[in-house]
Amino acid sequence: MHYKFPKTFIWGTATAAYQIEGSAFEEGKGPSIWDTFSHIPGKIDSGDHGDVGCDHYHRFKEDLKIMKTIGIKSYRFSIAWARVLPQGKGDINQKGVDFYNRLIDGLIENGIEPIITLYHWDLPQALQDAYGGWANLQVVDDFVEYASLMFKLFGDRVKKWITHNEPWVVAYAGHYVGRHAPGKKDIRTAIQVTHHLILSHAKTVEAYRHMGQDGQIGITLNLYPIKAASCSQEDQQAALFVDGYHNRWFLDPVLKGEYPKDIWDYFKETFGAPIVSDEDLEILSKNRCDFLGVNYYFRKIIKQGGGKDPLNFIEVKPSDSEYTAMNWEIYAEGLYDLLLDLSKNYDYPLIYITENGAAFQDVLSEELSVNDSYRIKFLKEHFKEAYKAIQQGVRLEAYYVWSLMDNFEWAFGYGKRFGLIYIDYDSKDRIWKDSAYWYQKVIETNSIDTEAD
Ligand code: FCB
Repeated sequence: MHYKFPKTFIWGTATAAYQIEGSAFEEGKGPSIWDTFSHIPGKIDSGDHGDVGCDHYHRFKEDLKIMKTIGIKSYRFSIAWARVLPQGKGDINQKGVDFYNRLIDGLIENGIEPIITLYHWDLPQALQDAYGGWANLQVVDDFVEYASLMFKLFGDRVKKWITHNEPWVVAYAGHYVGRHAPGKKDIRTAIQVTHHLILSHAKTVEAYRHMGQDGQIGITLNLYPIKAASCSQEDQQAALFVDGYHNRWFLDPVLKGEYPKDIWDYFKETFGAPIVSDEDLEILSKNRCDFLGVNYYFRKIIKQGGGKDPLNFIEVKPSDSEYTAMNWEIYAEGLYDLLLDLSKNYDYPLIYITENGAAFQDVLSEELSVNDSYRIKFLKEHFKEAYKAIQQGVRLEAYYVWSLMDNFEWAFGYGKRFGLIYIDYDSKDRIWKDSAYWYQKVIETNSIDTEAD
């Protein structure tokens, strides 16, 4: 079958500053919580860290050329807050600003539209030290100030902005599970952090409009289609709860301007309600964004009880499914289900898939090629589901593959390769995987073929 996408469909790739830039302490950049966290022994697999990363800071011109050759229409990247504001606020690091100016100008010269994520997890360490970072309400104003500065510096050329990447991960991986920076392990803090992130999003949307910026602003959420493991009442209820805690807790304030009552009540009864003022609620209710960024990787099948987690549910992994190198179930239909549910439940918002992709055990051959047919299959199946969703009226207008190149996969270090481009971490050479050539063809023809390839 041949699936032809709408003419204006935007094919892109995504990255994040800490995962690719390197130059962590160069040219005036201040440390971020990830610089600190990744240097604590035992936190990252193989003792990896992002000091050098893919050396994108020095090699971005080569990366621009690669993007241009693949034919990418849009590039999603993030700004390292501490590169432009080393202390999180106050003095600007002009060299950092210059770097992003060169990157933005280079993209535009090559006909690639920039879309910037303001926060992809690398809070300036100075703000963590000063008042505990995202756990403190003070961070909201500092974030809005930083965001407003970015709009002022780059908004003449950048017309698409994402406030946050995956606030769920920032809150829970960073402040409850402790597997991400800043490595805290307190559920109440994590819940409070969710509110500070959401509030900072709404206030940034307000500031963006107030400044008379003429682009679009949105947020990226990690969302999951959720299924109950059985039709027992307990499992159904657990699934509804997980949908609330993972998805609706973020979707509702962003798209409806309020927190979902069932999860609010659960938090209140179990851990104590987060501190949320009436004024905060008013800000949430007044500031809807222009698009929703969706990161989709896998579905969740939920069974009640059994887990150590106070949230008391377990995730079931079907034994007859295939899994990626992250041990994430490959389930392309989940993308269709998710997009349809979102559209029906939230009045058909404009959606960009801001991340989708997979890590596999890529092998670099002696001829310097990487045959990643499994990644091509993965992407093709997911593109097909996206196509089907568009046919059903979902307002999906862009798709960013995660990731342009292999990079620092957070607590997993460099061991998990998600790229279309293979990185030789010794030489920092960029090597095209077969999936990059395949993606080039998809973009060129604006279509996929499910029998060929
Ligand atoms: C997402 C992150 C992204 C990357 C992918 C694999 O949760 O946003 O930075 O690590 O997972």
